[in-house]
Amino acid sequence: MNLSKHESREPPGPDEPVALGVDPETLACLQALQAEFGNVVSVDKPNGRKAYFINDADEVRKLLVKHHSRYKKGPGFERVKMLLGNGLIVSDGETWRRSRRMIQPAFTRQNIHRLIGLMVECAEERASMWEKVAAAGETLDITQEMSDFALELILRCIFGADYETHILHAGENPFAFLSKDSERDLRIVLQVRESRNLIMSVINDRRARNTEEEFDFLSMYMSATDKAGEGFSDDELLDELVTLIVAGYETSAGTLNWAWYLAARNQDAEAKLLAEARKLLQDAATISQETLAEAVYGQQFLEETLRLYPPVWLFSRRAIEDDALQDYDVAEGTDIYLSPYILHRTEEYWPNPDHFDPDRFGPDCPHKKGDRPYFPFSLGPRRCLGEYFSFLEMKVHLGLLIQRFHMTLESDQEPELDLGINLRTKNSIIVRPHLRAQESEIA
Ligand code: HEM
Repeated sequence: MNLSKHESREPPGPDEPVALGVDPETLACLQALQAEFGNVVSVDKPNGRKAYFINDADEVRKLLVKHHSRYKKGPGFERVKMLLGNGLIVSDGETWRRSRRMIQPAFTRQNIHRLIGLMVECAEERASMWEKVAAAGETLDITQEMSDFALELILRCIFGADYETHILHAGENPFAFLSKDSERDLRIVLQVRESRNLIMSVINDRRARNTEEEFDFLSMYMSATDKAGEGFSDDELLDELVTLIVAGYETSAGTLNWAWYLAARNQDAEAKLLAEARKLLQDAATISQETLAEAVYGQQFLEETLRLYPPVWLFSRRAIEDDALQDYDVAEGTDIYLSPYILHRTEEYWPNPDHFDPDRFGPDCPHKKGDRPYFPFSLGPRRCLGEYFSFLEMKVHLGLLIQRFHMTLESDQEPELDLGINLRTKNSIIVRPHLRAQESEIA
């Protein structure tokens, strides 16, 4: 232990500089630091900047909730900025506050409920495609399928009828590169620029049509106003829409990818999921917010999936004023790292942490919400805006498709993690879909 650091109200940590990024080496490094130095660790980065890694449940909550205004987004966000401009995920301070106030009304439960029909349609269309694959005895790249499903859904929720007429006009989805290119390189930045031109043309067309009929995210964003009655400028609008596309599909796609994997691996949980879906969600035409709210096992299943595989596995922040965490001083300019992936798997809070058990979130679980560190959607004022949307989308998808298909995995190997800005599987997960009607044949 480094005593001189402790005396100066600085957490313990290694004497040598440590490089931290958003990559697999960083996960291993943070786990090793925690094992050696405890739940609050101080490191010197090679660039001379101080960084703290916080793995204490109360302090994480304090930082994200009560003290959130003392921090801005941290290292790694410069790269995200290249993609998302100054949209909600990357903006800070007054810019963020104004945008959040303007956008939040689009995400009321009432508004999200109006999108359930689209969620059902997208899931049903996927079911038709998978039926052909199952009938031909072929396999599915479920990782790619989930990316395509979630991307199509968010685009249809944003652009409404214009998705068909403007976005798919050439018979090909011009945003498909988002779900196909896993590398966030310069090429993708250029493609995003092209997409901005396309979005701008849809906006201009709507303005020319001057119609108020549409109900979709685009119309809500276009009519959003701030306290002074001002709307978004064109650039702001484009930043927010690109942010919505990227934020709105990759995380849900990743979670569904893991959910299918876990369903294939855990027969008991899959059977419970199926039983509930057959009881509540059998008739796609009657799926509603009420039936989805009753689907509590589906919710538990997804919450447990997100505990084990939180798509945003590492948060970074930078102190913009002095603060204190535990007994330690946080000087302005200090970088902070928090990891839901590590906290969600800390034995102290989650016994047998690597085991998949949706009952941890069940009605008989003795823990109340908030008792244990759990923050796949973050906490506090910067909490994810799409949390409710994503649970409905994922419950609709799994609830409908689990009734039609039993999936078996083509490989026995545990998927390797790809730890970038989002946690993904390094290689696609390949499954073999079996139509439920044919289940007896495969048993
Ligand atoms: C399983 C699905 C999802 C997960 C796990 C997730 C997770 C998160 C997390 C952790 C953050 C905060 C990041 C940080 O503070 O550094 C965030 C922010 C955000 N998410 Fe999500 N998200 C999901 C789905 C969605 C969807 C479907 C949408 C939109 C429809 C969405 C829209 C946003 C937006 C706009 C923000 C920025 C909020 C702000 O800074 O004010 N997310 N999300």
